[in-house]
Amino acid sequence: MCTCHSEIYVTRRRAFIEKVAMRGGDAVCVLPAAPVFMRNNGVEHDYRQDSDFFYLTGFAEPSAVLVLDTSNDCKATMFVRPSDPEREIWDGPRWGVDGVKTHFGVHEAFPIDELAEELPKLFQNKKRLYYRLGKSRAMDDEILDAIDRTRARVRLGIDWPVEIIDPGTILHEMRLLKGNEDLAAMRRAAEITAEAHVRAMALARAGMYEYEVEALLLETFRARGSERPAYGSIVGSGANATFLHYRQNNRKMERGELLLIDAGCEYDYFASDVTRTFPIGGRFSREQQAIYELVLEAQEAAIQKVRKGSTLEQVHTTCVEIITRGLVKLGLLQGEVEELVKNEAYKPFYMHKTSHWLGMDVHDVGNYYVDGKARALEPGMVLTIEPGIYIGSGNEKVASEWRGIGVRIEDDILVTEGDPTNLTQAIPKTIADLRQAVLT
Ligand code: GLY
Ligand code: MN
Ligand code: MN
Repeated sequence: MCTCHSEIYVTRRRAFIEKVAMRGGDAVCVLPAAPVFMRNNGVEHDYRQDSDFFYLTGFAEPSAVLVLDTSNDCKATMFVRPSDPEREIWDGPRWGVDGVKTHFGVHEAFPIDELAEELPKLFQNKKRLYYRLGKSRAMDDEILDAIDRTRARVRLGIDWPVEIIDPGTILHEMRLLKGNEDLAAMRRAAEITAEAHVRAMALARAGMYEYEVEALLLETFRARGSERPAYGSIVGSGANATFLHYRQNNRKMERGELLLIDAGCEYDYFASDVTRTFPIGGRFSREQQAIYELVLEAQEAAIQKVRKGSTLEQVHTTCVEIITRGLVKLGLLQGEVEELVKNEAYKPFYMHKTSHWLGMDVHDVGNYYVDGKARALEPGMVLTIEPGIYIGSGNEKVASEWRGIGVRIEDDILVTEGDPTNLTQAIPKTIADLRQAVLT
């Protein structure tokens, strides 16, 4: 259990509450921990704390609720599982009510069982409630019930929350702009992920199963202190590389096939998200290499577009234009490039977008559009650049030698005041570097 860095969470809470207060009115904010999901009788799915809750608390236990009060010097109240020596024999130690007060910088703490009783007191004379409706019906009921009970005391001259506002409108904008601590975790996640990909390149060979490569990745993640992968690892060989979210990872790989690995670890609750594609045995076929070079050209050009003031739409358009032009050159599309871009003729080959925000969640929070317009990039944002070309094995519109080729290349890019910073630069991706890195 880490007791060393409650300071960053206190600082974030204060910054959040200041932004809430700037919107006016006495407000209270309720953030619940992630629920536990049961897998089957008495067995839970691995627990992972809710990112919003963790961002403001650093508290990893389930059955907890954070309540923040704007008017009361940013008072933080936590509801947590109380100490329970009997239960702790099974599940391990808990912080308990006293522990959370001592180690997490909150002013007040209660056992979670007292939530229903305490919430109406915390809602008293608060006109606005920041709470995300719709994530948990059970918690929604608890909140609505507390509002109802606060309102029932109106004859005593008590105000109650008459507005419910999504805290994401503030919190997710904060999470979108990474601070130094966030970036330190993302850099470490990127480093571990780099080591895992390099190791996979060095060890993947014909005759191995995709899951053996997955196991290598997971071993490196865990051995380097990552808590978990940031998402289910994709290890797709041959035509499996053409399935965007292929997850079975159960095929035996053969020499000369492409292997697409989309895997990234989570470190201190921050994600990395990297894809590399390389030939098993180290040698590209002519067609594989042509597709690879095209995706790489698009990816590198798009990375250069990740600059303050530009937009993800511009970044995506860069990829689309390069890929379309390249597909025409290779004879996989016919027509005028401009027209083909306009008609989205590239979509059977490149059907997804180029980027998503990256942070505590792999597809991180934060709006992509503001007032209907693609938002301008700002220093501190982190996003992926991940173009790909996928030619299904059943695609009869192309000559047979092109079928079953799938290539994606993905890096994690930090927007700065100047040139973009590629957090995952260290992972080989040029043909020359792959030649060195991949087992031949
Ligand atoms: N690994 C998920 C994605 O690239 O979006
Ligand atoms: Mn991605
Ligand atoms: Mn990915």
